[in-house]
Amino acid sequence: MTHWPVHGEITGPIVMIGFGSIGKGTLPLIERHFKFDKARMVVIDPEDKDAAILKKHGVRFIQEAVTKANYRDLLRPLLTAGGGQGFCVNLSVDTSSVDIMEFCREIGCFYIDTVAEPWAGFYFDASKGPAERSNYQLREAVLAARRRNPGGVTAVSCCGANPGMVSWFVKQALVNVATDLGIAGEIPTSKDGWAALMQKTGVKGIHIAERDTQRSKNPKPPGVFVNTWSVEGFVSEGLQPAELGWGTHETWMPANARMHETGCGAAIYLLQPGANTRVRSWCPTPGAQYGFLVTHNEAISIADYFTVRDSAGQAAYRPTCHYAYHPANDAVLSLHEMFGAAGRKQETNHILDEHEIVDGIDELGVLLYGHGKNAYWYGSQLSIEETRELCPYQNATGMQVSSAVLAGMVWALENPDRGIVEADDMDYKRCLEVQVPYLGPVIGRYTDWTPLQGRPGFFPEDIDQNDPWQFRNILVRD
Ligand SMILES: NC(=O)c1ccc[n+]([C@@H]2O[C@H](COP(=O)([O-])OP(=O)(O)OC[C@H]3O[C@@H](n4cnc5c(N)ncnc54)[C@H](O)[C@@H]3O)[C@@H](O)[C@H]2O)c1
Repeated sequence: MTHWPVHGEITGPIVMIGFGSIGKGTLPLIERHFKFDKARMVVIDPEDKDAAILKKHGVRFIQEAVTKANYRDLLRPLLTAGGGQGFCVNLSVDTSSVDIMEFCREIGCFYIDTVAEPWAGFYFDASKGPAERSNYQLREAVLAARRRNPGGVTAVSCCGANPGMVSWFVKQALVNVATDLGIAGEIPTSKDGWAALMQKTGVKGIHIAERDTQRSKNPKPPGVFVNTWSVEGFVSEGLQPAELGWGTHETWMPANARMHETGCGAAIYLLQPGANTRVRSWCPTPGAQYGFLVTHNEAISIADYFTVRDSAGQAAYRPTCHYAYHPANDAVLSLHEMFGAAGRKQETNHILDEHEIVDGIDELGVLLYGHGKNAYWYGSQLSIEETRELCPYQNATGMQVSSAVLAGMVWALENPDRGIVEADDMDYKRCLEVQVPYLGPVIGRYTDWTPLQGRPGFFPEDIDQNDPWQFRNILVRD
């Protein structure tokens, strides 16, 4: 695209918290797609490793950590300077999404983040049990903030690629499958309508099915955790318990699975770290593959959103939903090394940038399975080459995230008083319209693969032959 549209005006200051791989990639998109006053834009980060980029772009930099003790005093003057309606773009680790979101709403500013993040220390707090360290609880805290203070200025929770964009993909994929099965009617306009369509289409479950094939020029050295996005973010979530939205078709549960006693009830967790939990899944490029069942907000929000309840409030229908993530090969090696050392993380972190990646794509989509046409993958196949052409300072993984932040910001400006929302609550068509120019090929593909393909092999297996789409067949248990 040679002519990039300006999607709207941000009348107050823009405050970006965190200038890591996603912050760097989001800055040029904000510059390209919004009218705003550059003199009032500020980036806050305790590290100054990329201060030169901010200098080049003429953006003020404050080298400081946002903390529980300072966030109100630090952010208030920055977000209100010069009047208008400010926008807080939180792309950091170790800052509480709920606290900062509530504060922004209190002072009338827009807010967006890509993860329901806690203050520093939460993920590695040994005094907390697995349930307390779950994404389920982090999401429940966001839902509680919404209940405490419904409506009001829009704050978008968890709007990156996943969580975020994949919720929009799920709706497009569902419409495509329903159409191909000849059961689509009007496109639903409410949560109940969407859940009813999912049930009618017969979807048993959804994988957020991703294969990142980006490769570095330099082989991974020992003692370095290499990834294509935040190492800190990935290690934190990877050491949380594996979690999944729990579908009503499931007849078996792992012995170490637990349910939560409070909240929406849409998900379960396993007493094992997600990044050391393998599942069988499918993406167009590799076909059948192993992914890691890393906990993610969308696994819970999507399962919750598409739950059909009976008159007693019990779940009559819910799809299973979880992440099945095959990260870049260097990240797989990094996990292997880390778990081999009993979960002790490497001393050094390294995020692969767009210059050192030789080739590869981030193939990120949703696999809707168990319906009349077996399984359907819908998603983005963005390559590093295309990313370099589209926008600076990011690889393909980052571009899928930063462009979702852009879409979320546009939607917030166009829907300024919707209160706290998740990606599932937003207009998927409008968001994808804004985002798709940055996603490379966006394709849908049916497959006849099931997790029972080729099984049992040489050894006896505990599988359910009656229903290939049981979690019992998907979870790797050897
Ligand atoms: N939803 C998605 O698709 C998605 C994808 C990738 C990343 N993320 C999330 O986005 C966030 C940023 O990811 P990233 O890849 O840019 O991470 P990163 O590790 O590259 O950068 C994080 C930045 O936050 C800064 N930071 C740390 N503590 C801070 C504090 N107290 N106050 C302000 N800044 C602080 C760090 O110095 C760093 O520059 C993470 O929370 C990550 O989990 C979401």
